[in-house]
Amino acid sequence: MTRSWRSIVCRVAGVSALLAIGLTSGVHLRAETGSELWLRYPPLTDAIQRTAYRRSVTAIVVQGRSPTSEAIAAELGRGSRGLLAADIPRVDRPRSDGAVIAGTPSTSPLIAALGWTDALARLGDEGYLLRSTKVGGRAATVIASSGETGALYGAFHFLRLMQMGQPLARLDLAERPRLERRLLNHWDNLDGSIERGYAGRSLWWPERDEGRLRDYARANASIGINGAVINSVNANPRSLSAPLLEQSADIARVLRPYGIRVYLAANFAAPKMLGSLPTDDPLEAAVAAWWRAKADEIYRLIPDFGGFVVKANSEGQPGPQDYGRTHADGANVLADALAPHGGIVMWRAFVYDANVDPDRVKRAYKEFVPLDGRFRDNVFAQVKNGPLDFQPREPFHPLFGAMPKTPLMAELQITQEYLGQANPLVYLAPMWKEFFDADTYARGPGSPVARVIDGTLEGKRRSGIAGVANTGRDVNWTGQDFGQANWYAFGRLAWDPGLSAGAIADEWIRMTWGRDPGLVATIRSIMLDSREIFVRYTMPLGLHHLIGGDHYAPMPENRDPRRADWSATYYHRADALAVGYDRTRQGSGALEQYRPPLREVWNDPATTPDDLLLWFHRLPWDYRMKSGRTLWDELVLAYNRGADEAKGLEARWSSLQGKVDEERYQAVRARLHRQAGAPDLH
Ligand code: GCU
Repeated sequence: MTRSWRSIVCRVAGVSALLAIGLTSGVHLRAETGSELWLRYPPLTDAIQRTAYRRSVTAIVVQGRSPTSEAIAAELGRGSRGLLAADIPRVDRPRSDGAVIAGTPSTSPLIAALGWTDALARLGDEGYLLRSTKVGGRAATVIASSGETGALYGAFHFLRLMQMGQPLARLDLAERPRLERRLLNHWDNLDGSIERGYAGRSLWWPERDEGRLRDYARANASIGINGAVINSVNANPRSLSAPLLEQSADIARVLRPYGIRVYLAANFAAPKMLGSLPTDDPLEAAVAAWWRAKADEIYRLIPDFGGFVVKANSEGQPGPQDYGRTHADGANVLADALAPHGGIVMWRAFVYDANVDPDRVKRAYKEFVPLDGRFRDNVFAQVKNGPLDFQPREPFHPLFGAMPKTPLMAELQITQEYLGQANPLVYLAPMWKEFFDADTYARGPGSPVARVIDGTLEGKRRSGIAGVANTGRDVNWTGQDFGQANWYAFGRLAWDPGLSAGAIADEWIRMTWGRDPGLVATIRSIMLDSREIFVRYTMPLGLHHLIGGDHYAPMPENRDPRRADWSATYYHRADALAVGYDRTRQGSGALEQYRPPLREVWNDPATTPDDLLLWFHRLPWDYRMKSGRTLWDELVLAYNRGADEAKGLEARWSSLQGKVDEERYQAVRARLHRQAGAPDLH
């Protein structure tokens, strides 16, 4: 009697304590480190919705037993357990309404019996259907794909619907990726340091935590990333040595169930440096044989190895030109070695040999366009979004639309090298959208970069995109919490470059911070404004590379003694009279690498958009802008406005105190405080 009385008292006390927390905070604010990324799955606070979801998610049916099937079941279990605060059993077949059934026609007899095989085949192994239907007379949600990876992607999509608070009844969704290869490029060195990494050391070199690697794979699978280059483009030749290949195989084993293939950056001088050959000349039979044997060795260890990325004859790296051969000769010898195994070569077009042209931004085009049609079928040219080097704003690289016979893999930079590293909040999706949506006019108006990359503009079979990763061992993965948004957005845009920056932000915010509409609106507006703010206070009006040697702080006075084109002065050319780089016909003529009407529009400062003005023109300080102000005044205005807006970001964020967990709130605030130019918080 006494005991039950006491337990009632305790229970009542517990409930009222819970109610008190609920009433005072209004939201669920458990302590967070950011380590769970957008896969936090906190319990849904809306009781009506939770009840509705629970009716739609009563059991999980994953009939396959492969590692990927296990990953699907585990994720559905983890997600629904978290969101619904209930243990949802995994069962072998639906016994009541509300089963969530995931798999492929070959792993799941239940899915095979639905007769969807043709529709699934059209969506490919990574595409999926997500439908509300009846199975054995019982209401069910089916996540089906012709490939297991597609089913995994569909499972993450299903969980995202719940994370976003979307209805689950009457689902009828079909998805497939627009780009075939969706890769992260990790600039990780074998000693564990990361080139341009601002989030701690490498996740896998020289040793790795398998659990963390699995979480990395889950995060990537949730956004459709299907490949990772696991070493730096400035590749240590040792990455291809037997002991290191064993380690790569180990990494591949962990990533494989999540549909992620391992790729490696190859050093072109590996035959000489690793194999003791007297030469790396790609036209030497012994060199070709060395690469063939190396490829065979790699595929014995990693049967689904993706291929090589190569930085050759760029920034001191060896390459075929050391032997008087072309980039095509170099790429083809590797491509021939990989072809029997289905591997590809991503040959980087980040080259800027000063002998080719005095203007750095013209050099890659001049070297690569004549090679169009001379690469093997399994070679991509990997081209950065702009012709210089990941600046806060650049026009699109003129190679997009200029190599109709060569698949072009776009290379974006997720890590914020020139964008303030891990300090300022800069949401990069608007910048990437500007790139995808830019009209190349390659086949007349309506030829956006996105259609060059996805292959549809020129009928290319292969397509791909690479993002230089911002991940590391930091607990929150990306050094700052908002860096996660850029990782997320890269994956979503690689899946579908047609998604909007705002819609992606919306998804990420709801999954990462919370679903309160006011909170979502505030964070979304901060994110969507952030890139333009950063441009304004660092490199407005088309200025570029105004940066010190570490690529962190604006430093217009920087004259790099090593190379003129690593200096800020080379790009802004400011003197007492004028500022900017003249790339018109009277100047370097770089704009001739673009098609009409762009080359005409950009040849005249009056028709050049203000945000590219000093990229293409050198203008007197008192040049009259469209606004009526002088160029000088406009520059001053942009810098001041950007700086004020940066302060405003901190103020906007402050309105969220108490609406998000205090740990991440303070972490973001400290960074925004620093971004605003204020002394560090204590
Ligand atoms: C930039 C970056 C280098 C990198 C290079 C590349 O210049 O600063 O660290 O190696 O790009 O993309 O190869």
